[in-house]
Formats: sequence, C-alpha cells, structure tokens
Amino acid sequence: MSADIPFYVDPAREADGPLVELAVGDGRVAIPVAQATGRTVIGIDTSPVMLARARTRAADASVQLDLRLGDMRELTLDVPAALIYCPFRALLHLPTWADRRRTFERIASSLRSGGRFAWNAFAFDHHFAAQADGQPQTEPVPHTVRYAVGDNRVDIAQEDGATSSLWWATKNEWLGLVDVSGLEVEALYGGFDKTPFGDDSREYVFVARR
Ligand SMILES: C[S@@+](CC[C@H](N)C(=O)[O-])C[C@H]1O[C@@H](n2cnc3c(N)ncnc32)[C@H](O)[C@@H]1O
Repeated sequence: MSADIPFYVDPAREADGPLVELAVGDGRVAIPVAQATGRTVIGIDTSPVMLARARTRAADASVQLDLRLGDMRELTLDVPAALIYCPFRALLHLPTWADRRRTFERIASSLRSGGRFAWNAFAFDHHFAAQADGQPQTEPVPHTVRYAVGDNRVDIAQEDGATSSLWWATKNEWLGLVDVSGLEVEALYGGFDKTPFGDDSREYVFVARR
C-alpha cells in the first residue's frame, strides 16, 4: 500500500508546525512524510511492537520520528499541531461513537487554529462484503474476513493467528464527528487522487480544519 502516501505528504509540506500521525504503525507513512518535509513526525500507537518496528525502519531510513506509546483517544500534545493525520483506515479500530467522538475532540483541541486533520476510511460496500465474507485472501498478508453487519464490524483473522476488527462508519457519522468536535470539513474526496466523493465512491478521504 503506497497510493495514500502523496496524499498525506502534501498537507505535511504545507503545515507550519508539528506533524502528528495517529496509529503510526511501523512508520509506513510517517517515514516518507519525514523524508519529504525534513521534519520530525510525532507518531502515536498503542502497540509497542509496531513502535519498535517504526523505530528500526526510521533509523534505517535516517529520519527522525518521535514515537510515543499512547492511545489516540487520549491524545495530548505539548505544542498544538499544524497537521494530524490518520491513514490506512485506522480510526475504524475505535469501536464506538463515544470512542470516536472523544478522539475527534482530542484532535480538535490538539490542533492550532487553521490546523488540519486528514484521514481515510472505507465506505461499506455490500457487494464487496458478500464476495469477501469467509473467503481466504492473500493481500497484503494471507487472511480471512467475516462481516458482522449488525455491529457494523469486520473481523480480520490472519493466517499467522493475529486478529483485529474494524467498525465501519457512514458519511453522516464522519460529518457528525467533525461537527461535534468543532472542526470544519475542508474536503471530502472519493480517493487519494482527490476525485470528488460520490455515490459510487468506496473510500472516504477527508480533510478537516480547525
Ligand atoms: C492499520 S495500522 C495503520 C498503521 C499506519 N498508520 C499505516 O498507515 O501503515 C493500525 C495501527 O493502529 C494502531 N491502533 C489501533 N488502535 C489504536 C488506538 N486506539 N490508538 C493508537 N493506535 C491504535 C495499531 O496498533 C496499529 O499499529
């Protein structure tokens, strides 16, 4: 997965202040952002294993990441950020509206005035779900997905035994989160190429501004 990287690099270049990636994982996006901007990226994640991977990869790439063990629901920064971003649908790891509202509120109060929050998440597609449910898949790693539509949840079981779940959200839920947190939508795209979001779009690609 690399199609999203230029989308997140662009606002990072324009940002005049701290850059923060929520759920930074192994630094897949944070490292190219740090390379493109020549600046340190603060990366937050709940997984010590992922942070250790990010630390090794950043050292190999000779870039500075400020990696912090933490939960995005509890985000606090010493200096307000100019850009906070959350790639790879990672907000969908938050199970409830309360978790997401809390996260958006923490983001809004951690941004400087005019600062941006960018993220992407899939739009639920019942055709895709019907085909994918229970079928072994190979990319990006061997795994099987199971849909629990009543809980708007997809459970992912990797062949290596790792499991995770994502809780999908509708456009109105995202717009509601932007609204209650006091942010404003700057753009909603249907893809990383910045095509406008439409009825056939399958990815929400949002930019909000404080
Ligand atoms: C799909 S990966 C995204 C990694 C990276 N941002 C990328 O684009 O490649 C999801 C990451 O979210 C982290 N994560 C899940 N829930 C989290 C939370 N509440 N706060 C911070 N990180 C979280 C996981 O530990 C994992 O590293």
